[in-house]
Amino acid sequence: MAKATDNTSNAPTATSDYLIRHATLRQLQVFEVIYRLGSFTRAAEELFLTQPTVSMQVKKLTEAIGLPLFEHVGRRIEPTEAGVELYEACRRMFESLSNFEMKVDDMKGLKRGRLRLAVVTTAKYMAPEMMGDFSKLYPGIELALKVTNRDSIIERMHNNVDDLYIMGQVPEGELEVQSYSFAPNPLVMLAPRDHPLVKKKNVSLEEIAKEPFIVREPGSGMRDATFRAFDAKDLRPKVRMELGSNEAIKHAIVGGLGLSVMSLHTILLEGIDGPVAILNMEGFPIMRHWYMVYPKGKELSLVARTFLDFAIEYESKITKRMESILPSLKYQFSNTKKKKKTKK
Ligand code: PGA
Repeated sequence: MAKATDNTSNAPTATSDYLIRHATLRQLQVFEVIYRLGSFTRAAEELFLTQPTVSMQVKKLTEAIGLPLFEHVGRRIEPTEAGVELYEACRRMFESLSNFEMKVDDMKGLKRGRLRLAVVTTAKYMAPEMMGDFSKLYPGIELALKVTNRDSIIERMHNNVDDLYIMGQVPEGELEVQSYSFAPNPLVMLAPRDHPLVKKKNVSLEEIAKEPFIVREPGSGMRDATFRAFDAKDLRPKVRMELGSNEAIKHAIVGGLGLSVMSLHTILLEGIDGPVAILNMEGFPIMRHWYMVYPKGKELSLVARTFLDFAIEYESKITKRMESILPSLKYQFSNTKKKKKTKK
């Protein structure tokens, strides 16, 4: 080890020389993702590769190292001791490379560079458009967007995978973060258009608790927010179905499988007169916000800092869009603004 840090000698150690000749950065990257996600399939998805390619890369890396990196435990894969050590080495290496890349990007200004954004699923209805507008200003910046649920966003943040994150609720206790509230995310109760409660005013949560209900999968922020709303009234929803996608929930609502709490953004394209209707409910919309988040202490690239400022400026555009779908929100938005002011 001492040899590797001794910069008076420029001969690499026998092992590192061997690995440099026999392993590639791409193989190490594939290994790192499999380790982090605990699955070859999910790694292939994240890297936009086929599963045979992923397996082949790991096979070659295993041969170069001369020890197995993963073992199968039932249907799961577990890293071996060599795998754990390699993962630590990869993390250090990739962190240095990514810091280096960031410095080089900063030297090039905003003409070049990359922004990796990861967002919770409700934000997928807004993030691509925001990125599109950003890209008009900075066409040379390469953009990557990952959409996943709250739990995996927190995991990605732990592993420092992306530049910035958009979440519906800032992590508390799980991780120390820097966060900026930047756009409204009102939650509404959705029902099929022909449901008897659609014509009613001031529907109570007690009435909803009698109806079949659809919730998101464990790990979803929307699921937590929904249960919190019921808990606050000492109620439990009558869960008929659990679904891992907002779009699938919309279709399930239309199919008459139940009602659900969702972000107003999810019906942005079809509007409020589409096949899913917003119920006029007591205590709704639940006024939530999205936050731009990143781990405390993380050094942001110039591109990420610029995007962060851009997102904060973007709030008024999103607010206007929300008001145009649901004009009654105007009153709530101005109330929130007043509260924000008095807080200061
Ligand atoms: P989810 O998060 O995708 O984890 O449900 C949505 C949100 O918190 O707004």
